[in-house]
Order: sequence, then C-alpha cells, then structure tokens
Amino acid sequence: MAGGVAVAPSASAGKRQDYPGGLTQFVFMACTVAATGGLIFGYDIGISGGVTSMDPFLSRFFPSVYQKQAELLDGGNQYCKFDSQLLTLFTSSLYVSALVASLFAASVTRAAGRKWSMFAGGVTFLAGCALNGAAVNVAMLILGRVLLGVGVGFANQSVPVYLSEMAPMRMRGMLNNGFQLMITLGILLANLINYGTVKIAGGWGWRLSLGLAAVPAAIITVGSLFLPDTPNSLLERGRPEEAKRMLRRVRGTDDVAAEYDDLVAAGEASRAVTHPWRDIRQRRYRPQLVMAVAIPLFQQLTGINVIMFYAPVLFKTLGFGGTASLMSAVITGLVNLVSTLVSVFTVDRVGRRALFLEGGAQMLAAQVAVGALIGAKFGWSGVATVPAGYAAATVVVMCVYVAGFAWSWGPLGWLVPSEVMPLEVRPAGQSITVAVNMLMTFAVAQAFLPMLCRLKFVLFFAFAACVVVMTLFVALFLPETKGVPIEDMAGVWKTHWYWKRFVNDGDDTDGHGVDIELGCVGEAKK
Ligand code: BGC
Repeated sequence: MAGGVAVAPSASAGKRQDYPGGLTQFVFMACTVAATGGLIFGYDIGISGGVTSMDPFLSRFFPSVYQKQAELLDGGNQYCKFDSQLLTLFTSSLYVSALVASLFAASVTRAAGRKWSMFAGGVTFLAGCALNGAAVNVAMLILGRVLLGVGVGFANQSVPVYLSEMAPMRMRGMLNNGFQLMITLGILLANLINYGTVKIAGGWGWRLSLGLAAVPAAIITVGSLFLPDTPNSLLERGRPEEAKRMLRRVRGTDDVAAEYDDLVAAGEASRAVTHPWRDIRQRRYRPQLVMAVAIPLFQQLTGINVIMFYAPVLFKTLGFGGTASLMSAVITGLVNLVSTLVSVFTVDRVGRRALFLEGGAQMLAAQVAVGALIGAKFGWSGVATVPAGYAAATVVVMCVYVAGFAWSWGPLGWLVPSEVMPLEVRPAGQSITVAVNMLMTFAVAQAFLPMLCRLKFVLFFAFAACVVVMTLFVALFLPETKGVPIEDMAGVWKTHWYWKRFVNDGDDTDGHGVDIELGCVGEAKK
C-alpha cells in the first residue's frame, strides 16, 4: 500500500551521538560550489531595485512612473512617488514563478538527486537573463523574470537540502549558511554593478545589469555537473553501496558505520513513502510542517526586502540623489555580507536560538528608530527636505537593522527548515519553505510601495510588531538544533514542552517503525 512507514533512526529517542569524521576538503569544495546557487537569487534581489530607479529604464518601460517622479523632484508627497503596480510587478513576478517551480522541484530533487535540480535551475535562469538583457518591451521583461524565477525556485529548493546533508553535523550550520553568504554576495555584486552601469552614457546600463546575471547562472549550471550526490539521496534512490562509498569519502574516514546505519533507517523510511505531500500532513510531522511554513513567513515579515529591493528608491525618497542612493544600497549590501559571516562562524557554537533572539531584539529597536526618524521629518504630509546628516543617520540605523537580520533570520530562515525535516518528507518540506518564502516575498514586494504611500512611516512600526511576534514564537516553539545529527532530529521534538504531544502520542517515531495510522509496518534499523 502506498503508505508512510515513517521511522526515525534508532538514536532519535534523545541520545545524540557524535559521528566520526570531520570537514574534508572534498565536502568543503562540494558545498562551496552548491552554495553558489545562492548567487543567482541574491543577484536578482539586488539588481531589480537599482534598475527600477534608473531614469532611462523607467522612461522606456514605465513612462508614467518616470513622469510622476520628475514632477515630484521639487517637493510634494514623497511617500507615493514610486507607487506603480506595473513597476512592482516587474520586481515580484519572479517570486510567483519561483513559488510554482519550487513545488515541481521537489520531485526532481527526490527522484533524480539534488544536483539535477540545481542544474535545471541554472539552465532556466540563463534563458531568463538573455530575455531580460535584450528586452524591448515590458512583456519581454516580465517573461524573462518568470524564467529567472523558475531558476531560483529550483536552486532554493535543492541547495539548502544538499548543504545540510553533506555537512558533518558539527558544522552543518556553518556550511548551510554558505548559501546565505552567497545570497548576500550576489546582492552586493548587483548593487555594485548598478552603481557602475547607471553612469554608462547612452542609457543602456540597465541592460548590462540585467544581462550580467548570466555570470552567476553559468557558475551554478556548470558547477552542478561536477557535484557528487549526497549519501542520503543515494540511499533514498536505492543505491546503498554507492552511498556508503560516498559517506566514507565525504567524512574522510572508514569509520562511518554508526552514521550509515542511521542513514539506512532514514532511507528505508523514505523509500516507503510514496506520497510525501500527503504524508507530511500527518500529525507526527506537525512540528516540522509548522516550521516549514512559519519560518519563511516570519523571515519575510521582518521587512528585509523593503531594504533589499527598494533601498535606492527609499533613499531617493529620503532626498538622496540618484548616485548617492545607489551608493547607500552598496553600503547596506556590504553590511549584509559582513554580518552574515558572524552567523557562519557562530551558529554552531552559540546555537540557532541565541542568534534568532538577539537578531530579533536588534531589528526591533532599529525598526522603531527608522519609523521615528522618517516620521519626525516627513510626518503625514510626506513633504520635507532632509538635511544630509539626518539622512545619513537613517542609513546608519538601517544598517543596524540589516546586520541584525543578517546574522539571524537571513541564514537561519534557510538553515532551520532544511535541517529539521526527516529524509522521507525533506524535499516536500523544503518546497513548502521555498513556496511560502516566495509567496511572502511577492506579497511584501507588491504591497510595500502602496503601503508606504498609505501608511507612511507607520509601516516601519508594523514590521516592528511582526518582529515581536516572531521572536516570541522562536522563544516558545523552536527547539535548539545545533549539534544534532540530521537523521536524528526527531529527538528534539520529543523533549520539547509543546511539540512532544504530537510526536509521542499515537505515532511511533522512536525507531520501532509501526505506522498505525496507515496500517503499514516497517522495521527501523537497530
Ligand atoms: C531572504 C531574502 C533576502 C535576503 C537578504 C534571504 O535569506 O530569503 O528574501 O532578500 O536574505 O540578504
């Protein structure tokens, strides 16, 4: 019967074992190449805000926005000058297609292995770059972004899973955060490129900005062809001998029996599940399902993409000139990258919860300050001239906010959902995470400019309120996952004050593998 034999490895009943083997050069290289999948996502995030603030681009594709902006140069309500649904659609169309693509990517990732999803992502993305760089009308622009979105959907679905599976447990946080590091590098490179291309005489700089996305796309496309499969995926696809060889290779030791046994148990459970989309809705997976939805939802409700997409536009609103706006975006991009490194080097020592809680508090304080600074100057009318020092202070506070995000919700928004899923529902779970992330990115992108126009500075207080809710959520509901082997994660829910009722009653997930709900019996290893 097509049922779920959901068994977790034997060690999952709370014992946490430390497997032998460390970080080999082989794994480091593989993870570095895979993480470059984050570059394409980051490049996109960073490029569109700058391009949509370039006059030649606006006057060619969005003449009404261009006109409105020009009229408001000498005053008027600054909150509303970029409010155009068509312009926002350019930015956010990518996220809708990424959402849909990520759902298909789960099957590819599960059946063919993680690397082929990355490859598919890279190729589609390349096609999107060509269309965008050569665009002569809005339709070409938007179609190009849809293809880019398919690329991002596939890459974001497969890369975090790949990294979490390859990494030795003690360094899983660090290696997985490599994905976010590449995202931030992509954003920064895009900001720098915009800063350069805006100065190109003849007004075609935006073409270069959009077309150059082909460079990171080529890196992940070619790179993925050289990537080894993860041992977990090999087992899932019924190739135990190869899986064992690969595990020895990635851990750099022959002493892999304990880890291999746990992987086999997880692999058996996984192969017994033929309907991961249905099974993930079972009660026993409730904690993981909640995390797969809540974490990306909250990540976007931090409001980070208001800065990432609209920093140049926002800084223009604050009265910066065109080049100064792009420069300020470079500054926030740099802070984003450097602060992500803090997470890379601390996440496996201080743990996920500490970073989430500190980052939340920092973002909250900064958001309240940004709202107050903008409110004090622009008030409700949105009319003001901002002294240079005042605008600079606002940029500094925004940097404090970006830093808080960059070592908490940024990397952890991808790490935590990918590491808490049991193998049998991991690709489906990761697809849900990507889909929710993209849906919320779309919603925030689409809603921000009209909301800024209506809610004005209060919008920043609304994001601050969301940060309070998500920080409380982490404090109450997220168990610490640092140092827990990935196929041994079930134990963290069993001892959690709230989640234990879901995983302990009714369902047997402690290694004896009796699936009462579906009437299937499966034997776990050991
Ligand atoms: C988020 C993006 C965001 C980026 C900023 C990522 O983790 O998913 O939406 O733009 O971080 O660095």
